[in-house]
Amino acid sequence: MSSATSRKHLKKFYQLRVSEISRDTEDSVLVSFDVPDNLAQTFTFTQGQYLTINQHIKGEELRRSYSLCSSPLDQRWTIGIKKIPGGRFSTFANEVLQVDDKLQVMPPDGKFYVPIDTQAKRNFVAFAAGSGITPICSIIKTHLEREPDSSFKLFYVNQTSSTIMLKEPLEALKNQYMDRLEICYFLTREQRSIPLFNGRLDEEKLETLSESLFSLAQTDHYFMCGPEAMIQMIDRFLKGKGVAASKIHFELFGTSGEVTQQKKQELEKAFKGKTCDLTIIEGGKSLNFMAEQGVGNVLDLALSNAADLPFACKGGVCATCRAKIVEGEVDMLLSYGLEQDEIDAGYILTCQSVPTSDKLIVDFDC
Ligand code: FES
Repeated sequence: MSSATSRKHLKKFYQLRVSEISRDTEDSVLVSFDVPDNLAQTFTFTQGQYLTINQHIKGEELRRSYSLCSSPLDQRWTIGIKKIPGGRFSTFANEVLQVDDKLQVMPPDGKFYVPIDTQAKRNFVAFAAGSGITPICSIIKTHLEREPDSSFKLFYVNQTSSTIMLKEPLEALKNQYMDRLEICYFLTREQRSIPLFNGRLDEEKLETLSESLFSLAQTDHYFMCGPEAMIQMIDRFLKGKGVAASKIHFELFGTSGEVTQQKKQELEKAFKGKTCDLTIIEGGKSLNFMAEQGVGNVLDLALSNAADLPFACKGGVCATCRAKIVEGEVDMLLSYGLEQDEIDAGYILTCQSVPTSDKLIVDFDC
């Protein structure tokens, strides 16, 4: 199989049966899928990866990505879905979805992990908020099981004790790995006896934690998953303390969009009246059409010209829409889903890339 064909194979949707739904908290469920033997290879995953689901709800196609909270060692594909106010898919999953229903699911993807090293003795620190615990749970379980000398410290923020997702499996892990897993819960809407554990994480708390509960000098890797503001704050703190970027790993659950809104307006103004001859290469075929420079993004422009392209979050996070520029230029609004070396090599997130040249050729097969 060529690499282009194999990528296409991984970015298409497969119908999977929901094998189990269990209530995790009042507003979250754990949904497991039955992966048939002929798809087991395609759905092989690494701790920290996610699944993308495609579902039509009230006539609209919705795509949502959810991290696997199960470990690859479990041979189970389980995602945790927290109901978000107004969230159409999360409400559907929490209130309507039933065992035996079939969902369209894209094979696991994502780069939120470090490879397992069974001989290593490493100290990991993780920060999670709300449903950000889902990939972290998979990561913790897998490292502790496969690396018998490694240890984990988890700092986990929730609103109240009753909204703590995956509390049971986390406590079971704590009992299993008493000397190697430590969990500190922070609550924002409930008072705890120790003031440090009240409220969100902030720089002051991080300062205290790094002086008393984990050692900056002895931590090998940091994992963070949750809202953009929390991740940016912890990232700034760690880098300010001299932690190398290669030790900091994060997964964003959505972006605020404030910065991109302003940049979009600037681009629209700067390129007003200019056109772009846009060519999309995908699956060995090419599609050519005219677009305006400084307006829209490559993915949406191509989709509205009847292209069949892979995408999931449309928020610059998941990298499902990644492609390579063959010729021309774009302005990329967000690039969380790409590494710097990919950007240097000409890769873009098409959902975030605004055409800014007279001619643009973008290849999804690279
Ligand atoms: S679709 Fe997720 S980054 Fe573009």
